[in-house]
Amino acid sequence: MQTKLLTINQIDEAVALLKSGQLVALPTETVYGLAADACNPDAIKKVFVAKGRPCDHPLILHIDSFDKVYHWAEDISENAKLLADHFWPGPLTMILKKKAHVDPLITGGLNTLAIRVPHHPVMVSVINKLGTALVAPSANAYKKISPTKPDHVLKTLDGKIAAIVDGGASSVGIESTIIDMTKDIPVILRFGAITVEMIEAILKIKIEAPVSHNEKVSGNVKDHYQPEKPLLLLSLAQIDALIKQDSENAVIYYSDLFKGAAGKLYKMPFSKTEYAQKLYDVLHQADNAPVDKILVEMPPNLPEWADVIDRLIKASQK
Ligand code: TXA
Ligand code: MG
Repeated sequence: MQTKLLTINQIDEAVALLKSGQLVALPTETVYGLAADACNPDAIKKVFVAKGRPCDHPLILHIDSFDKVYHWAEDISENAKLLADHFWPGPLTMILKKKAHVDPLITGGLNTLAIRVPHHPVMVSVINKLGTALVAPSANAYKKISPTKPDHVLKTLDGKIAAIVDGGASSVGIESTIIDMTKDIPVILRFGAITVEMIEAILKIKIEAPVSHNEKVSGNVKDHYQPEKPLLLLSLAQIDALIKQDSENAVIYYSDLFKGAAGKLYKMPFSKTEYAQKLYDVLHQADNAPVDKILVEMPPNLPEWADVIDRLIKASQK
């Protein structure tokens, strides 16, 4: 199959492909999503085949406005409404109790459903024109680095999907925060740009953060977001010591103190928001560079950086 590259002026073509049961990679503010019509079981099956993703690994349903939640989910708590009010459209996914009609292919047989209203105008417009909802996991092969640009999508899905809509670089750069709202006390299943502190400030209660590695939640699979090259998460002193012995490294750092000259160097921004925006692009670049290893300076150990640190730890697992 030839994967077509569409511009934002060709949204109608993307919609037509989705209507005919094809897969289209679409820009969202977090990462590019591999979209399929949520009402077409054959199309949903293609998502698992294209990504090489286990079938019991549930997908996120994307809707274009909060009111559509009632079509797909039930028992929506006041807390869930509050979060939707503050963070939708945006990078927050809520786990809610699913309605009986929701295809078990989407939920991996669970009785809960992951839902989000994305912010990206292209994604919202496609959902709106399609008139249903889209399932959309990140548009990359299972366990590989997520895509924030069309080129990243092509790296693992070229020839396996009908099209990509080029909506530029994703502005958030890291997958949505996932929060389970089916529990009395909400539980964070994946860190993201909407932080624990931001959610606690709205709900005015303490929420729980992840404790275990449940394979069904890819946010919780230990070896996710992986480059092909070994990635080592290190202090600046450890990086200095290593590059003295071997110069064939990519170094991703943020400290001004770093004075390394050899290898491929990637200077990261100090601001967490800008760091996150850039992270996957730099990981893709470093992975494509002629180096043996990717050395990453451990970012600041602060609550705001939880999503970035989480992705880097997973990328560093063997
Ligand atoms: O930012 C994002 O969320 C991106 C964009 C495209 O929207 N999507 C994304 O999808 O990251 P994916 O499939 O790569 O990750 C979705 C995560 C998976 O780890 C899945 O296990 C979890 O959501 N998930 C889906 N349904 C669930 C459920 N009912 N209970 C617990 N986790 C669920
Ligand atoms: Mg993913």
